[in-house]
Amino acid sequence: MERKISPSLLASDFSRLGEEAHSVQEAGAHLLHIDVMDGHFVPNITLGAPVVKCLRGRVSLPFDVHLMISDPLKYIPDFVNAGADIITVHVESGSTAECIALMKELGVTPAVALKPATPAEAVFPYLNELGMVLVMTVEPGFGGQKFMADQLEKISAVRGECEKRGLQTDIQVDGGITNETLPLCAAAGANVFVAGSYIFRAENRKAAIRSLM
Ligand code: DX5
Ligand code: ZN
Repeated sequence: MERKISPSLLASDFSRLGEEAHSVQEAGAHLLHIDVMDGHFVPNITLGAPVVKCLRGRVSLPFDVHLMISDPLKYIPDFVNAGADIITVHVESGSTAECIALMKELGVTPAVALKPATPAEAVFPYLNELGMVLVMTVEPGFGGQKFMADQLEKISAVRGECEKRGLQTDIQVDGGITNETLPLCAAAGANVFVAGSYIFRAENRKAAIRSLM
């Protein structure tokens, strides 16, 4: 599977979002990970569709929008109109089948995320419909947390099920990804890597991305 790096804007300087997004595009990123939090599904608030729309004018990278919100079905059209390319909804938010159907109808790649306590099997009913599965390697809500190695088994379980079904589904990991934790996730079957702190706090973002490839 092709390896892709998706820097998480959460770790960037929000007063200069456009420049920050542009800098990782120049540094060789494949996707731009945008974390949307509503203060309800997770105990933090970040940004919404109007901000995503403004960023769309500044960067050409595909937008990988991670919705950590309680009612994703209601907001999917806003994020599609704002320029999202991939939208990830949490299976714990509910209405997963409806969200996937809506994303397909609106022409974006549907993805489903699993929180650390949610088993791999929770995504199996939707697997054939998905472009990507996100296995969280931290509790969603904040950047800069420690990687949870106990999620590696879940990555293997999802990859195993994809292989059993003959699916080339992307498997993304998000949380605590560095040049040390990425190889563990890759060996378990992940191929799309979100990294916030590791890339945005690096002195040289290009070198940081290169070290993940
Ligand atoms: C956490 C977010 C992540 C976060 C990762 O809820 O989903 O995308 O930005 O940050 P790092 O890479 O710093 O762990
Ligand atoms: Zn994320």
